[in-house]
Amino acid sequence: MRKNIVAGNWKMNTTVAEGVALAKEVNSAVAAAKPNCDVIVCVPFTHLVPVAEAIDTAILGLGAENCADHASGAYTGEVSASMVASTGAGYVILGHSERRQYYGETSEILRAKVALALENNLKPIFCIGEVLEQRENGTFFDVVRTQIEEGLFNLEASDFGKIVLAYEPVWAIGTGKTATAEQAQEIHAFIRGVIAGKYGEEVANNTTILYGGSCKPSNAAELFAKPDVDGGLIGGASLKCADFMGIVNAF
Ligand code: PGA
Repeated sequence: MRKNIVAGNWKMNTTVAEGVALAKEVNSAVAAAKPNCDVIVCVPFTHLVPVAEAIDTAILGLGAENCADHASGAYTGEVSASMVASTGAGYVILGHSERRQYYGETSEILRAKVALALENNLKPIFCIGEVLEQRENGTFFDVVRTQIEEGLFNLEASDFGKIVLAYEPVWAIGTGKTATAEQAQEIHAFIRGVIAGKYGEEVANNTTILYGGSCKPSNAAELFAKPDVDGGLIGGASLKCADFMGIVNAF
């Protein structure tokens, strides 16, 4: 059966020292709480090595927030999937809406990143989600379906099985405006159906689908109670150990 996961996405926040301190605090809290879900922190590239050294990755999973779309070579400023894997990280967020929107990441680029992540034994946390206009004009089902088809449906079923999906409505990210639990369930069930249509019921039922967008301790339990919501990708609330643990403990 699929795993429940709560993953933090620190984005471009914290210095190395602050990040190491936060990771240690979260690691201790998770060790004490023994939650009913896997817990992961996805951190800036600069933080991967010191955080990997500071935590027990068997207790607290570690991920990057991005990786390059090329394996190696003359790509100044980029960080490859193999470099990320060599730090001890096991996950990588790919296709976050901020990367799609501000850095022009297309489905073609994302297919290359997913392939490189998988080659290097990193589990992609692949983000999808509509903007407000698409929610309001009712095209969001098509938008999300297309993002999944274009980004992931070139994969064999065995590789698709390694993907964690994160549905993040862009209008809910960092806005304080959360999708209702009913809205989340509706689109998560739709996403599972899209996967079933391509790879069959078993693969679909084994796929973890996270919700992201202003998830906090006060709304996590209601969201996670929905049958197709398998956890959360947490931005702002992952930067404070108590808030993050409030979400983890919602399971
Ligand atoms: P938020 O961000 O929790 O701050 O809304 C979620 C995300 O972008 O992953």
